[in-house]
Amino acid sequence: MSDPRFDLTAGPIGIFDSGYGGLTILDKIRRRLPAYDYVYLGDNARTPYGTRSFELVYEFTLEAVMRLFELGCPLVILACNTASAKALRSIQQSDLPVVAPRRRVLGVIRPTVEAIDGLTVTRHVGLLATPGTVKSQSYDIELGKLCPDVTVSSVACPMWVPLIESREADSPGADYFVAEYTRRLLEADGRIDTIILGCTHYPLLMDKIRRHVPWHIRLLAQGEYVAGSLACYLTRHPEIERCCTRGASCTYLTTESAADFNDSASIFLNTRVEAHSIQL
Ligand code: DGL
Repeated sequence: MSDPRFDLTAGPIGIFDSGYGGLTILDKIRRRLPAYDYVYLGDNARTPYGTRSFELVYEFTLEAVMRLFELGCPLVILACNTASAKALRSIQQSDLPVVAPRRRVLGVIRPTVEAIDGLTVTRHVGLLATPGTVKSQSYDIELGKLCPDVTVSSVACPMWVPLIESREADSPGADYFVAEYTRRLLEADGRIDTIILGCTHYPLLMDKIRRHVPWHIRLLAQGEYVAGSLACYLTRHPEIERCCTRGASCTYLTTESAADFNDSASIFLNTRVEAHSIQL
């Protein structure tokens, strides 16, 4: 039986990521849908998720979703590809019907794949993502369903999230790993015309990645597509939209030190934030 605490109530839209990466999605969502209230939760204490097992990513993600539900969120966006790949389906199919059948949890992979069909001309795309996302084959599966004529080549980038989370994205060490992973992808398939940055942290390496990828190849950051897809979703689901409060606010929560989060988040968002530290 569902828990009455998690019946559909009015509240902010929840945005979850393992760390700072989801801020790239939050930023685009708030630009597109500025009227709503948001609560961002970064599990910085346990990042990165990309090298963790399926079971752990699912467990951590479910804990975060439940916390966001406790805070009244009628809708939660997993602004993390790894969590979307490894936890979204189980949460939607097994957990939500039991604990909160009227609330919704959405991910970032489907909106990205929906965009691909109209973007690639050669029908050869590349994916740069965490080891967890690549191993899950979620992009291959979703692309196979939506545009089966598209060939996808993937390269896992295990060093990129740790470099970004530790604010080493501008270091020479980061240069080495950006050059190395992009080289592997371009060697895997010379016909790629679109590369999916399949991790919400990666836009923070955009300039560096651009230097190693020929200009005719599009680098696809997910934020705008996720924001557009959310806007459509809210139009199509008035029962959820009605419950999203409109105070244009954003609350920031982190499982690590709030001061550290504030320092880093202000770099990523170009504005000062006041986070609160919580435990999951
Ligand atoms: N931003 C997460 C993603 O999109 C990073 C995962 C991680 O913590 O490794 O996959």
